[in-house]
Amino acid sequence: MSDSPSLQVLAQVARAAAAYRSEVDAAEHTPVARYADILAEFAGPLPERPGDAEQIIADLIQKATPGIRASTGRRFFGWVIGGSHPTGVAADWLTAAWGQNAGNVLAAPAASAVEAVAAGWLLDLLDLPRDASVGFVTGATVANFVCLSAARSEVLRRSGWDVEADGLYGAPKVEVVIGADAHATVYSGLKYLGLGARRARVVATDADGAMLAEDLERVLSEIDGPTIVIAQAGQINTGACDPFKAIAPACRAHGAWLHVDGAFGLWARACPKRAHLAAGVELADSWATDGHKWLQTPYDSGYAIVRDPEAHRRAMAISASYLPPAEGSERDPSAYVPELSRRARGFATWAMIRQFGRAGIADMVERCCAVASEMADRLAAEPGVALVRPVTLNQFMLRFGDDDAMTRQTIARVQDESVCFVGPADWRGRTVMRLSVSSAATTEADAAASANSIARCWRSVRD
Ligand SMILES: Cc1ncc(COP(=O)(O)O)c(C=O)c1O
Repeated sequence: MSDSPSLQVLAQVARAAAAYRSEVDAAEHTPVARYADILAEFAGPLPERPGDAEQIIADLIQKATPGIRASTGRRFFGWVIGGSHPTGVAADWLTAAWGQNAGNVLAAPAASAVEAVAAGWLLDLLDLPRDASVGFVTGATVANFVCLSAARSEVLRRSGWDVEADGLYGAPKVEVVIGADAHATVYSGLKYLGLGARRARVVATDADGAMLAEDLERVLSEIDGPTIVIAQAGQINTGACDPFKAIAPACRAHGAWLHVDGAFGLWARACPKRAHLAAGVELADSWATDGHKWLQTPYDSGYAIVRDPEAHRRAMAISASYLPPAEGSERDPSAYVPELSRRARGFATWAMIRQFGRAGIADMVERCCAVASEMADRLAAEPGVALVRPVTLNQFMLRFGDDDAMTRQTIARVQDESVCFVGPADWRGRTVMRLSVSSAATTEADAAASANSIARCWRSVRD
């Protein structure tokens, strides 16, 4: 066996990946193998001796493939999962092959420069302040955490407290205000930051899960001192956006930092026909969003965007004697993320923005929304099926027979039939089928075939 690693594996993987992608649309939407089966396939003693690269990769493909969920398929409507577009995947492969450590500009000049360009493009696409700073992180969970770190830093700085140096012991109390239908991962950020998930003051929401501006004003009138308000663009079940035009001035008047979790909903801004849904979001102080949802990058792509780059850097920057600082206007990628050594995430983002262009992104977002409406209307016409809330974006919920058990049974049958994949959620204490149309690959024909499958499965439960 040769001492140098085999480069054949790269070509081997390219062939296998292309074959997988060309078959995935016809693939069943439920993995054939379950966790326990895959575990049994992979389990074995720790290898004591070096292996053969091509054999290792062949084994990986053979053993894992039966348990790969077809989430890049065109009829996948579970959770909010983008299509992992081949151009983004190709850029991501190069990222891995180049093996850049995008922690600093000297180690990775191209990665740093491409992040700078992609950051500017993102601000333009999302129509956010062009001088905001952008951290390229793993996803919206971490983007929320980064933005809330900058928020915590700034609201405490204004109260004369240096949280980076002195921590939270003895600090002025930070009030956190959040909508009742916020995403679970925002609470993770509060946990990591010592702000406490349970301490947040909850603002009432409307039937779609959007914050009631008057209730926010009531909550704000009851508190003072450093305050962070967490709003959202794109409620996970309804797609609803908070009324930013009303809540942003209320936050400003109170001196509060307004953060927006816009994991997918912020992309409405990139689509002229839907931009009004998130009107006023540009008035916020920070925004979290994902590339691996509506920009269709492969996984490991989110963006933490902060109006005040100083606050962003104060919360995140790392310095050490052996790390050369960026010079002049050079971007230091690690200054905006909670990592030092890291993947060069800018390449895939840059490639996907080039792939679609501004017009292509707008078309894709609109197509997903139109397909969601079409599917919802088609299914709501079926006796016994209720569309729980009107569709405004790409997310919608269905309920079957106005009954939790029948709804769960229908979901199980749809998953068994495998034409498409859908999952359950709870909404206002009741079980629903929740669908997300988030893949660029989904066509109207896919939507029709999927709606037919859902209707067929429901009839088999109902009759
Ligand atoms: C509104 C919202 N916020 C945050 C997240 C978490 O994003 P990620 O899983 O990319 O970390 C999601 C994921 O679906 C989401 O929909």
